[in-house]
Amino acid sequence: MKEKLEQIKASALDVLKNASDLAALEEARIKFLGKKGEMTAVMKEMRSLTAEERPVIGALANEIRSSIENHIDTKKAEIAAKLEEEKLKDEVIDVTMPGRTQKTGKLHPLTKVMNNIKDTFIGMGFEIAEGPEVELDYYNFEALNIPPNHPARDTQDTFYVEDNIVLRTQTSGMQVRVMEKKKPPIRMIAPGKVYRSDALDATHSPVFHQIEGLVVDKGVTMADLKGTIAAFLKELYGEKTKVRFRPHHFPFTEPSAEADISCFACGGKGCSMCKGEGWIEILGCGMVHPKVLQNCGIDPEIYSGFAFGMGLERVAMGKYDINDIRPFFENDLRFLSQF
Ligand code: DAH
Repeated sequence: MKEKLEQIKASALDVLKNASDLAALEEARIKFLGKKGEMTAVMKEMRSLTAEERPVIGALANEIRSSIENHIDTKKAEIAAKLEEEKLKDEVIDVTMPGRTQKTGKLHPLTKVMNNIKDTFIGMGFEIAEGPEVELDYYNFEALNIPPNHPARDTQDTFYVEDNIVLRTQTSGMQVRVMEKKKPPIRMIAPGKVYRSDALDATHSPVFHQIEGLVVDKGVTMADLKGTIAAFLKELYGEKTKVRFRPHHFPFTEPSAEADISCFACGGKGCSMCKGEGWIEILGCGMVHPKVLQNCGIDPEIYSGFAFGMGLERVAMGKYDINDIRPFFENDLRFLSQF
């Protein structure tokens, strides 16, 4: 019986040595120490022993049982430690690994340039005015000294909503809307969308943006116009930019001019950007026509003013070196994410 017990111990230790997980340990415990296990079976045979043998074998059996139990406990701790270590290895964070870039939204390039222009004028004490894109013929044309059959109407291919309602072809109508509501001194810019029945190509779009400007007060002169516009254009394109004014004609200003800046690509030497001219046309401007002031109930004998208007897309195309107007309206992220 003693041999049997020693044998159980030896085979138990052998099995435990090779047990590699908790399930195998439990299996071994049941096999050797369980109710129907090998040790229990041997103990049942104790009855057949003599009174002298019984305590000796009993002591040996207890010793072997606790030895096996100890081995199971030790092995259990070993396996638990190993599992813990593996888990930590799995969960380790490589702090040197590059992160995943999060794409953030951006402002549209037109919005950026618009904000820039607004900031500049706000800095010069201008207010920002907004008005309707579906506009009365009166504000878009008539009050601006462009009566029916005036040739200037032909140059602006107008979308008509009704006989006397149009999609505004220019922001200039905002001059009238502001002057009707507010008495001088007036300093305002009016940014917004305008519409013209133009076929879409690299330089034309049926919808684009303009920024209108208006200053009305006592004693406003052409010198104020030149100073304000030159200051604005230098702020937008850089201090070195030269500004020149060329005579022009608009029905709602007298005298009228167009403002050019020295080419931002070549500095004025002449290149493909300025078509060899050295100058780039930026905006239209002039002294507000007395008839327009009168139409708005402002006495041209007391007040004078200047106005200007420019296309936002053209400004943005120059600033960002873009040679096609279409991508502004196509919402292609490959284009938009570059700005
Ligand atoms: N409205 C004109 C256009 O669309 C631009 C313009 C020219 C606006 C002269 C003005 C101005 O205020 O004074 O071509």
